[in-house]
Amino acid sequence: MSAPSPRPTFGHRHLLGIGQLRPHEIAILLDAAEADVEVSRRIDKKKTVLKGRTQINLFFEASTRTQASFELAGKRLGADVMNMSVARSSVSKGETLIDTAMTLNAMRPDILVVRHHAAGAVALLARKVGCAVVNAGDGAHEHPTQALLDALTIRRRKGRIAGLRVAICGDVLHSRVARSNILLLTALGAEVRVVAPSTLLPSGIELMGVDVFRSMQDGLEGADVVMMLRLQRERMEGTFVPSIREYFHHFGLDAAKLSRAKPDALVMHPGPMNRGVEIASEIADGPQSVIEEQVEMGVAVRMAVIETLLAGAEVQP
Ligand code: NCD
Repeated sequence: MSAPSPRPTFGHRHLLGIGQLRPHEIAILLDAAEADVEVSRRIDKKKTVLKGRTQINLFFEASTRTQASFELAGKRLGADVMNMSVARSSVSKGETLIDTAMTLNAMRPDILVVRHHAAGAVALLARKVGCAVVNAGDGAHEHPTQALLDALTIRRRKGRIAGLRVAICGDVLHSRVARSNILLLTALGAEVRVVAPSTLLPSGIELMGVDVFRSMQDGLEGADVVMMLRLQRERMEGTFVPSIREYFHHFGLDAAKLSRAKPDALVMHPGPMNRGVEIASEIADGPQSVIEEQVEMGVAVRMAVIETLLAGAEVQP
């Protein structure tokens, strides 16, 4: 006879996207992350729950902050963490991905954290390996831990997500951060707006349940949260913006545009920032900015995700 588990269940082996989660599962991860914020603020930041477990960070796309954040998260849980950065190869990308994954799989990791430049690549890999997989960003598809850390930052500052007006601004077209945030924030009942020039809006974006604005002045009106996106010049083929100067003039967040939002609106950015392109330096460093807090919440959210997935793995056959 075993006592019933007091914890609500998280029913997934992998975290591939916010799209797979139900609202109560998002809440489970955010609540777990709250406790890990406290752990990360202690002098001794180390838990032992994942002692003896192996985490491999497999990054096919350059990353500094996300990889560092996942590495620290794993280490604070007591796991052994290995980082593997795989440069883009000239051989067939599909082959490289699966071959690399199978090689690592044979080393019996408990969890793989994967970033890849192709949408869907992480889900493909998850079907081939025998361990838990976390999507750390796949092309322009999803970046679920970024959306979770953004939600945690907002919830801690505002006390809730439901009913808040959130404006997601800039390069929505190339942004996995925008997609994951739209899915999460709408699932939790926020009023989500996207604000961008037509060239940087995916067609049919309104089907995701957002309101579309092509002017910052209108889109930021009454916003509780202003989330800026990096202009992803490395993903752009052809001309999406006339010039950086013009982009900043119309879509860069400066004091005048921010004044349209609520006076206590939070300013967010997933990083890395292009200062003077999508955000003015004085706003990025200003009193409404929670950009550094987002980074802190990132470690806690990733701890919560890894621990939750591996706790579930114990009962898997
Ligand atoms: C984001 C990403 O990689 O999608 N950055 C990150 O996770 N640190 C956003 C971006 O690159 O603009």
